[in-house]
Amino acid sequence: MTRPESLRTALVAGDLDQLNRGASQIEPATLLGELFRISKDLWSFANSFGKEDLVLTHMLINHRHAFNSFVLDTGRLPAETYDLMELWRQKYSYFPRVYYPEAESVGSYVSENGPNAFYRSVDLRRNCCQIRKIEPLSRALLGKQFWLTGLRAAQSSARAGGSMFATDQAGRIKISPLFYWDDASIDGYISRHKLPYNRLHDQGYPSIGCAPCSRAVAKGEDPRAGRWWWENSHKECGLHSSVVELGSKAFKSEGYHAES
Ligand code: ADX
Ligand code: SF4
Repeated sequence: MTRPESLRTALVAGDLDQLNRGASQIEPATLLGELFRISKDLWSFANSFGKEDLVLTHMLINHRHAFNSFVLDTGRLPAETYDLMELWRQKYSYFPRVYYPEAESVGSYVSENGPNAFYRSVDLRRNCCQIRKIEPLSRALLGKQFWLTGLRAAQSSARAGGSMFATDQAGRIKISPLFYWDDASIDGYISRHKLPYNRLHDQGYPSIGCAPCSRAVAKGEDPRAGRWWWENSHKECGLHSSVVELGSKAFKSEGYHAES
């Protein structure tokens, strides 16, 4: 798959086999360029303000076309992440749409289980992620056929088994343009373009999610070891559980229209 038009045709057809063939050769900028030729109403970028998301945000902004993006504000993000969002708002006039959890659900969960229940069991942790991330994600993606993420193979062994194009549980196509980038390429891009980044990275946090569920890791430790650090789990919260079940599921392209 080398020609940009065939990339778009395969995207619209939801042909994952075709898309993933030779995906490691696809330039993220080319891929984003093709996405901009698909109605912006059909796709959105999930922005956690992690390093790879900053690279994607910068690339998207550079296209100078409007695009949809969102952040899932769980209510438990680190203060440093909010500071970073504010820096991007000031420097680039960029701010994604914010999705919050349902207040009623958070209220019931915390009233019943306490504010830090996720440390007590995997089930309570999953419930918290369900309320604070997964349910809001489903609202953020309503009506979308594609979404963009900053997932990379180098982030974990589970993610290494994934691919640049995948389907999520709802049958949407999840596109991770930086899937094959290594850490050095991400850091190089950030430093070349002087992108503001989360200062927790300089304090030993390679991966940052909610404050109570992220910690710094030692040199040489698995980069995701600091996520849900008290668990021996596979270190996924459910946002990307489909990374381990990739396939070429049929994809409905109804409602698609290309923009030239
Ligand atoms: S997580 O599932 O473990 O939390 P991770 O932090 O590695 O995910 O981020 C992987 C990708 O998921 C990000 O590049 C981003 O696309 C999306 N993502 C994760 N957290 C959020 C969030 N709070 N808001 C929006 N997108 C997110
Ligand atoms: Fe709750 Fe932690 Fe999941 Fe955030 S990462 S939603 S605080 S369990």
